[in-house]
Amino acid sequence: MTMYENFEQLIKNFDGATTESVLSYFLKSHKGRIALASSFGAEDQVLTDMVASLDPTTKIFSLDTGRLHEETYRVMDQTNRKYGISIDVYAPEREELEALYRQQGSYGFRDSIENRKACCHVRKIVPLKRALKGMDVWITGLRRSQSPTRELMRLVEWDEGNNLIKLNPLIEWDEKRVWDYIKEHKVPYNALHDEGFPSIGCEPCTRAVKEGEDLRAGRWWWENPEHKECGLHLRGA
Ligand code: ADX
Ligand code: SF4
Repeated sequence: MTMYENFEQLIKNFDGATTESVLSYFLKSHKGRIALASSFGAEDQVLTDMVASLDPTTKIFSLDTGRLHEETYRVMDQTNRKYGISIDVYAPEREELEALYRQQGSYGFRDSIENRKACCHVRKIVPLKRALKGMDVWITGLRRSQSPTRELMRLVEWDEGNNLIKLNPLIEWDEKRVWDYIKEHKVPYNALHDEGFPSIGCEPCTRAVKEGEDLRAGRWWWENPEHKECGLHLRGA
């Protein structure tokens, strides 16, 4: 299954280690078989900055659902330019996308959770499987304090659904630490973060949040908090 006997022991061994040293350990031990998943959100930009300085040959990929904000495409190009890298972009399968339009039109995801999950499946989950092919480890920008659905997440986990290790280097970070890093290292970030968008997904499924609202309140705002995962990060499924 995995070269690690016990993730909890591994996590204990990293106790007190810097985020960079955890990343460096995994980038070295899984070179060529480790990839960073980026939606160009603040957390992913921090990780891109670290990964690009530790090993710029590391695969970084993004799932282009076809429904992203213009600002997201802009920061994608800015990031490639700044770090001299080329982030791999994965698009949905043409036939599945065409069938999705036949089944639910352009905004069918608003009609039911089932439709919403079908859209996320075609636009994110299937492309993710392709992006992760041949990989041992994927790195994400998940943080525990982002949402009630993320409270139990760990630094290193076995991803049952995708059959590989999932590394969440920022799991313990709070929002302030993310922004302090971005400012200190002059990391490019999505302009929407300055307009009240702490969490950014697809354009029709993301809106700005009001003062005091939950960080992910603007994602699929018409659904209950416990449903607000697109399936990229379901646990125990
Ligand atoms: S989501 O499941 O609700 O979309 P969120 O936007 O909080 O997740 O992002 C959590 C992590 O999932 C990101 O830090 C990133 O690693 C990964 N991720 C989310 N969306 C994408 C995407 N479009 N492409 C690549 N990775 C993504
Ligand atoms: Fe579709 Fe919205 Fe999911 Fe994007 S977030 S894949 S538009 S349902």
